[in-house]
Amino acid sequence: MTLHLKSTSLPIAEDAEDEALEKNRVPAQIEFRRITKMYGAVAAVKDLSLVVHRGEFFTILGPSGSGKTTALMLLAGFVAPTEGDILIGGNSVGAVPSYRRDQGIVFQSYALFPHLTVRRNLEFPLEMRGMKAAERAARVDRMLERVHLKDFGGRMPSQLSGGQQQRVALARALIADPPLLLLDEPLGALDRNLRDQMQVEMKSLHKEFGITTICVTHDQEEALTLSDRIVVMRDGQIEQTDAPEALYDRPATCFVANFLGEANILENPGFEVESASPFGTVAMLRPERICVAARAAPKRADADQRQFVTGIVEDMIYAGPLRKYHVRAGNSVLIVREHVAAGQQVFRPGDEVRLDWLRSDVRFVTA
Ligand SMILES: Nc1ncnc2c1ncn2[C@@H]1O[C@H](COP(=O)(O)OP(=O)(O)O)[C@@H](O)[C@H]1O
Ligand SMILES: [Mg+2]
Repeated sequence: MTLHLKSTSLPIAEDAEDEALEKNRVPAQIEFRRITKMYGAVAAVKDLSLVVHRGEFFTILGPSGSGKTTALMLLAGFVAPTEGDILIGGNSVGAVPSYRRDQGIVFQSYALFPHLTVRRNLEFPLEMRGMKAAERAARVDRMLERVHLKDFGGRMPSQLSGGQQQRVALARALIADPPLLLLDEPLGALDRNLRDQMQVEMKSLHKEFGITTICVTHDQEEALTLSDRIVVMRDGQIEQTDAPEALYDRPATCFVANFLGEANILENPGFEVESASPFGTVAMLRPERICVAARAAPKRADADQRQFVTGIVEDMIYAGPLRKYHVRAGNSVLIVREHVAAGQQVFRPGDEVRLDWLRSDVRFVTA
């Protein structure tokens, strides 16, 4: 069973609090206008401008220390900008304290109230908004069911697994149907399988609730999986903002190319790089775009659109469904990644091979 909070009952506005809850149910549009946050001489965030659209799942991605959490804290109102303005739904929130900003928040360390049952944890935000007891109970029931914790309402947080605690944290953030959901490394504390599972769950919750969601992560795969758009941050500044596929397929800079997956950066590679688009500075080629074959293997039908180079295998790395080669060609060592398939020839260190790729797969990035 799924629950559609949008189409079900908030109480008919009877008092100011209910009215506030009612009015805020449109997902928020967010705008950062030239935001700078200084800590002493360090700019944690530097002249940041960006717009997050209504209902978007927007991810702030970057290495540790790039200013992701600071950006989120600024939006949440936990820290004040040194310069610039933040608008939510078109209104400046500079003067609005964090408890007055209608937002659900989930941090890496679930931060449930340890002395309250799951049920009471979920009720808390509703109580704060003045919702009546019967309505609260009904809402909590629906939410518990929605996050597959129907029978766990009476437990204390310490009696739950990490994944279950994280579900409760998400449920609590969503229960008052806020126009904005803020997530800081929400799955960082979970192990791999659970994280994959929770990613699917989060995606489906986002789809269902349609809440504008801003998620901070350093995990590129998580960002690619969940997001409508991603901003890549570096040293407090925006490196690139784009949809996942565009970001991966057409990175603007070496930094983005390397941060999102693996990249062969062909700077003075020792062979001429042919390309379908002869503009740009540094050539970049994704490992999975390169084919590896025996040196004298017959060429495929589209050979006229491909570049061929010969090389020597330096390393072969087996990774379950994938095989990775390091191949020395010219001055470079190219990373090649192929899906393991039946009947495929496997090469070993020292083997001479021929690499080829479509000229149209060569991208140009700025150094
Ligand atoms: N409260 C603070 N006081 C001083 N420096 C801080 C504070 N918070 C963050 N910083 C600094 O700002 C930069 C960005 O930090 P942060 O936003 O936490 O990055 P991220 O979340 O991407 O790891 C780092 O250099 C960090 O040391
Ligand atoms: Mg952080």
